[in-house]
Amino acid sequence: MAKSQGQKRQGKMSLVGFMQAGNTSVYSGSWRHPATEHGFLDASYYQKLGRTLEEGRFDMMFFDDRLAMPGIYGGSVAEAVRTGARPVKLDLSIVLGAIAGATSHIGLGATYSTTYHSPFHVARTFSTLDHLSGGRAAWNIVTSVNDSEAQNFGVDEILGHDERYDRADEFLEATVGLWDTWEDDALVLDRESGHFAHADKVRALDHDGKYFKVKGPLTVPRGPQGRPVLLQAGSSGRGRDFASRWAEVIFTGDPNIDGARKHYEDQKARIAEVGRDPERIKMLPMAYAVVAETRAQAEDREQLLLNDLVDPQASITLLSELMNYDFSGIAMDEVITDELIESVNGIRGLTQNLRQHIGGDVTLADLAGHRATLLQGPRFVGTGTDVADQMHEWFETGACDGFVMAATHVPGSYEDLTRMVVPELQRRGVFRTEYEGSTLRENLGLDRPAVGS
Ligand SMILES: Cc1cc2nc3c(=O)[nH]c(=O)nc-3n(C[C@H](O)[C@H](O)[C@H](O)COP(=O)(O)O)c2cc1C
Repeated sequence: MAKSQGQKRQGKMSLVGFMQAGNTSVYSGSWRHPATEHGFLDASYYQKLGRTLEEGRFDMMFFDDRLAMPGIYGGSVAEAVRTGARPVKLDLSIVLGAIAGATSHIGLGATYSTTYHSPFHVARTFSTLDHLSGGRAAWNIVTSVNDSEAQNFGVDEILGHDERYDRADEFLEATVGLWDTWEDDALVLDRESGHFAHADKVRALDHDGKYFKVKGPLTVPRGPQGRPVLLQAGSSGRGRDFASRWAEVIFTGDPNIDGARKHYEDQKARIAEVGRDPERIKMLPMAYAVVAETRAQAEDREQLLLNDLVDPQASITLLSELMNYDFSGIAMDEVITDELIESVNGIRGLTQNLRQHIGGDVTLADLAGHRATLLQGPRFVGTGTDVADQMHEWFETGACDGFVMAATHVPGSYEDLTRMVVPELQRRGVFRTEYEGSTLRENLGLDRPAVGS
């Protein structure tokens, strides 16, 4: 699947804004950035972000989520609250509802957990959003990673890694089943005769499985997209198999182009193995762009991010959360061993990625010092042309189908991309100048699924 440098690739790249409905972007120092606006409790802040990304013709904006404050480190949320390490997370369906009313084309994605929500709730929320946004809804399927979230839902510990995916498989069967309980042409709406809808075109689901029992039908008619677009970010073997079965857009966290190419090839092969078309499923690595009018200015901006804004304590607090491992008992100069990684029930791939990036042994201080969250993906630095060059190379050489762009500051990162990088990608013909359609599926080149397909 990897393309040689000279070979032109067909199709356009996809761009997705990686959003956070809270006090900080995925880069934990973002709230301290001089250009960050602190409007995270205002609807207008999210609406402005939506309009900016739509002006940049982004395919979609999608919000990550966590259902708890970071509380693994030292068994307390104190450090998260003190350092602003993501203590605030708003309810996403309401945030997306506000953005839907202020935009007209951009896709609207939200993260919902298969471990803590129920199929009926998820099916109903996303179907409602799909109607109210005119066919722009997308669900980012996560299984959740740590005990902090479990403890907000009546259990002490998160389920084991693979069992979370078994449950997720059944969750998807039930949720997709609920979306298909209404035929497309079920509604009649005949005032005269009083015939509201065809009773034989709205069916019960009667799902009865190991984890869920759902009668149905859904209380929302079939949406404009048939089913909302499904996003997923599994990176383990089990996660990749899950993505192959269900995902239409796959997010990844590969830090360098070689690793990304291997991941791309492996994931696309898995998709083909289960009989789906790998060309239609997008793989989008998370990436940062640090853009400025000159390369020197961009490099200065990068130094600010690396050296000044992240409290190492905030990095370790977030890493404890992502890996579901309390690092408070480990000295800063201690080497992170294979045994430690094996014992992690959260995101294992994270430390492997960091190891690849840093090379050799990784100490806890390295993890903190390298501003862990900035290393989850590549960082493209320079002028608009420099950044477009790097993105273009990833796209052209089989490392990805586009990017999930994370913000170093908000809304500035997205304004910079829209103003300086997007026009350059458009000039090269690798990114759209106008939306192709009105639904997210149309813009992503995805078919509208038929009932029961
Ligand atoms: C760009 C990106 C965004 C993610 N967003 C979330 C999220 O919002 N909530 C969450 O619980 N996990 C999130 N994850 C983690 C994934 O859901 C998944 O747990 C992780 O990639 C590890 O996969 P694995 O369990 O198959 O190893 C994200 C991962 C990536 C790469």
